[in-house]
Amino acid sequence: MENHIKMIGIIGGTGSLGSGLAQRWLVAGHTIFVGSRTREKACTVVDEIRAKSGITNITGVTNIEAATRGEIIVLTVPFGAHQTTLEEIYEHVQGKIVLDTTVPLKPPRVARVSLPERGSAAAMTQDYLGEHVSVVSALHTVSAAHLINLDHKLNGHVLICGNRKASRQIIADLIEDLGLKGWHAGSIENSAASEALTSTMIFINKFYQFKGAGIQIISEEY
Ligand SMILES: NC(=O)c1ccc[n+]([C@@H]2O[C@H](COP(=O)([O-])OP(=O)(O)OC[C@H]3O[C@@H](n4cnc5c(N)ncnc54)[C@H](OP(=O)(O)O)[C@@H]3O)[C@@H](O)[C@H]2O)c1
Repeated sequence: MENHIKMIGIIGGTGSLGSGLAQRWLVAGHTIFVGSRTREKACTVVDEIRAKSGITNITGVTNIEAATRGEIIVLTVPFGAHQTTLEEIYEHVQGKIVLDTTVPLKPPRVARVSLPERGSAAAMTQDYLGEHVSVVSALHTVSAAHLINLDHKLNGHVLICGNRKASRQIIADLIEDLGLKGWHAGSIENSAASEALTSTMIFINKFYQFKGAGIQIISEEY
């Protein structure tokens, strides 16, 4: 697909989710900037991914550099670091798509839904970054452990929320590149439902001893 290959900057890309996404998008042909608060940490993670994948189109950088060099910016930091990270990248992401994966978990009770007063982390992101940034939220119900294991065939579905259809579609294509099925799931306000599902999945994992439960959307035909 023309223009499908993207330059992706991952903020907090050294973590479980960020590094899993980096690997899968790298293998799919995208150019990746793994961001970190410290460049050295990012470079260490990048060296590991290069060695594992044999692909070198990935660079370890600071979060600000990832936000500057990427055309699609992916936010993968804990909720506790959400606001300070937004402040750090604000001026570098104007005019871009920001994919927010943040789940507003409240440790230690992570198996209980705990949404912020604004409704969701993604709505907070859209409010803060402003109308010149197209915030899309997704991937809340995808286990990083499954992403990191490239031999694992992913079966999950992903709810994609955001105020602009065209931005949601770009993210849907990137989600397909991960091996997942994405669904347009409405405006950024609907991200509350997807973010809340994470705690529900964590509860299901504990209760049924599952390793990374996910979701699938079905259509019942009568
Ligand atoms: N893990 C999953 O399976 C999963 C699934 C769906 C959604 N999510 C969401 O994705 C986000 C990342 O999850 P994760 O499990 O990858 O998190 P993580 O590994 O704990 O952290 C990700 C990265 O965030 C940075 N970070 C940590 N504390 C920070 C702080 N106080 N200030 C600034 N940066 C900080 C670190 O990067 P540096 O030290 O290199 O700066 C770290 O490597 C979370 O919001 C989570 O809810 C996770």
